[in-house]
Amino acid sequence: MNISLKDKIANLKKEKNAVILAHYYQRPEIQEIADFVGDSLGLSIKAAETDADIIVFAGVHFMAETAKILNPSKTVVLPDLEAGCSLADSCPPEAFDEFVKSHPDHTVITYVNCSAEVKAMSDIVCTSSNALKIVASVPEETPIIFAPDRNLGKYIMQQTGREMLLWDGSCIVHEAFSIDKLLKLYKEHPNSKIIAHPESEEHILQTATYIGSTSGMINYVKAHPQEKYIVATEAGILYKMQQEVPGTKLIPAPAKDDNTCACSECGYMKVNTLQKLYNCLLNESPQINVPEPIRQRALLPIERMLELSKQDVGN
Ligand code: 13P
Ligand code: SF4
Repeated sequence: MNISLKDKIANLKKEKNAVILAHYYQRPEIQEIADFVGDSLGLSIKAAETDADIIVFAGVHFMAETAKILNPSKTVVLPDLEAGCSLADSCPPEAFDEFVKSHPDHTVITYVNCSAEVKAMSDIVCTSSNALKIVASVPEETPIIFAPDRNLGKYIMQQTGREMLLWDGSCIVHEAFSIDKLLKLYKEHPNSKIIAHPESEEHILQTATYIGSTSGMINYVKAHPQEKYIVATEAGILYKMQQEVPGTKLIPAPAKDDNTCACSECGYMKVNTLQKLYNCLLNESPQINVPEPIRQRALLPIERMLELSKQDVGN
């Protein structure tokens, strides 16, 4: 009898007491077999809570690294080590170290999309679900460095009226949306609503009725099942979102790239495939490891975030 890849993964998962955590940007077939699908905050919370021996992280490197930081004694595997992140890459640890050292009076808040080394230089980590709350937790008179995403940083400054020193990083996927094409598309669907992820540029965010994390966007659509939404984030989110609101038309926001919407797909997220996921569970490789001194320093700001955001999943 021919056993499908999905069944092989399910059997192996049981045998090895493994858990599969997947981000909303993963391929649909990976989301289907995952034990939990969520945004970065939800995935960090699940990683902190799991009693599995092996965590298969179907997402990108910084997410798997966060899971390892929280679970040093567990095996954490990523289907493909090439699953990186342009935003994390835009903040090299050496340059960030210099930046932080030249502003010693600042509290350092880093968006979770960064390396373990950069987290280790931070006071608090945040995700797009809890960034406003984390920034608000820092006393008014304390100056803040916010890194690495300049778009999320600008959005927080606008929302809170608070100045922050921003690192100049960004996500290639969220900066690929075309405002001209978006406005043209909106004209074709005048009764639609635009929803956007805060990694998008300011002119895109200005058109949005709702701005939030991937979970936040899904929850918003569920709570307001409009007839039509234009969705400005990575297109993988449409799979789960459509399951939640089957009667709602969901249109991916157009990218600058002329003929396809391929730019709104994260190439890093999509290097993971079902076959690679099976292989990494079978071989328990490639594993994610974080040097212990860095892990210990990176753990504190992550724990602060988890403590501060206990009631905030999906905002
Ligand atoms: P979320 O925290 O909203 O899931 O975002 C993760 C991400 O990588 C966005 O590009
Ligand atoms: Fe990184 Fe952007 Fe991909 Fe998210 S969508 S993982 S921020 S490159």
